[in-house]
Amino acid sequence: MLKKVLPIASALVAVMLLTVACSNDGTQTSNQAPNSEKNTANKSETPEQVKATLPVPVLQKTDQGENVKALQQVLNKIGYQVSITSKFDEMTTWAVTDFQMQQENMPITGIYNKATKKKLQKTLDSNKKLTPGSALDKPDQNEKVASNPHEVLVLVNKQHSLPDGFKPKNLVVPDVNFPFDGFHEKKQMRKVAANALEKLFHAANNQAGLELFAQSGYRSYERQDAIFASNVEAYGEEEANDVSARPGESEHQTGLTMDVTSPDVGFHLNTDFGKTDEGEWLKEHAAEYGFIIRYPKGKENITKYQYEPWHLRYVGEKAATEIMNKGITLEEFLGKK
Ligand code: DAL
Ligand code: ZN
Repeated sequence: MLKKVLPIASALVAVMLLTVACSNDGTQTSNQAPNSEKNTANKSETPEQVKATLPVPVLQKTDQGENVKALQQVLNKIGYQVSITSKFDEMTTWAVTDFQMQQENMPITGIYNKATKKKLQKTLDSNKKLTPGSALDKPDQNEKVASNPHEVLVLVNKQHSLPDGFKPKNLVVPDVNFPFDGFHEKKQMRKVAANALEKLFHAANNQAGLELFAQSGYRSYERQDAIFASNVEAYGEEEANDVSARPGESEHQTGLTMDVTSPDVGFHLNTDFGKTDEGEWLKEHAAEYGFIIRYPKGKENITKYQYEPWHLRYVGEKAATEIMNKGITLEEFLGKK
């Protein structure tokens, strides 16, 4: 008899536990006290009443879980209204970017890191009020135009363009070698990427004795327009678009990109660069400094551009490491293939 009752009793307990788990936001376990802080956080408390604890790890677009949830709660506590999805989605990226843009001397990346954590903590402690959205408009539904061109994981390709008139903030000339003298617009990058490029070039030279040169970084819409037009004239439109982007669709306009080369290929930008010591070293080590080879060999059907071993794109160390280790593209990383 007891043998028969036991399975029924266990099934009943399981159903009860499941009911408790399903009645909250799906992320809690049944051993939490019903009145625990966590349990009531999303039900009856206002953002002001939720205890906000800042997570420790670096968090960015595509991340998921309890840490992202904690970050979203903090963002709401300081005045944002992001849904508590536990997913680092477009809205969370927007809120982090908008927050960073309202701080002094803060790299604008859309990535939650140590520096952002510090500033958020300061905001929480001081009860300082922010005006959410005063630095950056909320994302809209238009998938074709990037609504947040300031985040370092922004996707710019043939399907996703930059907004009209976009010019990145904080453009600087990185302290690296160029194969030409004097100032030129194309020497510039966004500060966050320029700093990383300096570290990358320094390591290539110091650790491996290599000679990297920077050839072409930031390009304004107008310059890309001229480059594309001249390529169309030389090769026809289809071929031109295989090697160069239409204006508004070039990563060079983000200030996060640098084309690099070496004396071994006469400072040209060609596929032979991939076979040089410099090209091979980059493939191995670029990610350690936050860069990816944006248009890899064999992924032309996804990127829609030819293999470009010289085109480095800054995405930050965390994303770069995953992208380069898995041998994927930024499109695949972002789930926008
Ligand atoms: N060569 C790359 C695709 C550009 O023009 O942005
Ligand atoms: Zn390029």
